[in-house]
Amino acid sequence: MPRKAVCEAPGKVIVSGEHFVVHGATAVAAAIGRGVRVEATRSRTLEVRSNVKRREALAPVKRVLESLYRSRESEPRISISVASALAEGAGLGSSAATMVAAAGAASELEGWRLDPLALAEAGAAGERLVHGNPSGIDATASALGGVILFTRGKRPQTVTLRRPVSLLVAFSGRKRNTGRLVAKVSEMKAGYPSLFAGLCKSATLVSTLCSRSLADGDAETLGSLMTYNHAVLARAGASNPGLDRLVELCLGSGCLGAKLTGAGGGGSVLAVPPPGRAEAEAVARRLSKAGFRSFLTSVPAQGARSWSE
Ligand code: PMV
Repeated sequence: MPRKAVCEAPGKVIVSGEHFVVHGATAVAAAIGRGVRVEATRSRTLEVRSNVKRREALAPVKRVLESLYRSRESEPRISISVASALAEGAGLGSSAATMVAAAGAASELEGWRLDPLALAEAGAAGERLVHGNPSGIDATASALGGVILFTRGKRPQTVTLRRPVSLLVAFSGRKRNTGRLVAKVSEMKAGYPSLFAGLCKSATLVSTLCSRSLADGDAETLGSLMTYNHAVLARAGASNPGLDRLVELCLGSGCLGAKLTGAGGGGSVLAVPPPGRAEAEAVARRLSKAGFRSFLTSVPAQGARSWSE
């Protein structure tokens, strides 16, 4: 039996289809090169601590582990230590990555060897405790890694890229609450059911086109689709003036496309930077001058990985 098990799980960005994915549309998500590292060691009781999350915010992680051990007719006598490089409330999937990494480290310690889809399910179960009606896309992107086409209740499809694609993530500086935003967008469904059904259909189409342009490395098309996507999400109530201004700033600084990513209402903007490292870094400098932190990331990135020490 190993004395210590480690699992690293990446955060994610949603390239297309957030919110509509909750209602059955297809979305595209990509794991990013930053994430969460969890170490699991033996203990007399279940203990969870974190470098970023408050104690109350760790309750769902405990519940996920309790349920995992219960399903194996066993008791969680482990200590879990979470170190996250993902800002909370930034829309980069920090809570899903934490759940996936906690389940991954615990199962590595116990020798259960859960496959990526089982880890995704454990993560999604945790997300259900955090906000009422998650699609499961965050946990699936984190567990599987790479770029995925995701439809709720169906097996995710991996999108193979001809070459890595560079993306820019810019923080709006405002935390958002996924549950509240999902409920807000769902109000549009209640008020305008036929319009909403049409938007779900077009979100699926846009996601398919985004996955093709990612696969082909066609940054121009990807960028236009993403900007269009932002306009639709704004109409559905997921944006706000701060996010709209940040999208405008990215586009005005030479990005080929930009949109809110994840739930919206704050969090982050995802943009396709202009081609060339120097040009992309110039955009990041311009954003920084305007008071926004950003980073460049390359997709695809690895999914959750576990090992024993
Ligand atoms: O929590 P976020 O910001 O990563 O958003 C997740 C994406 C949503 O479609 C808004 C919700 C979901 O569960 O799919």
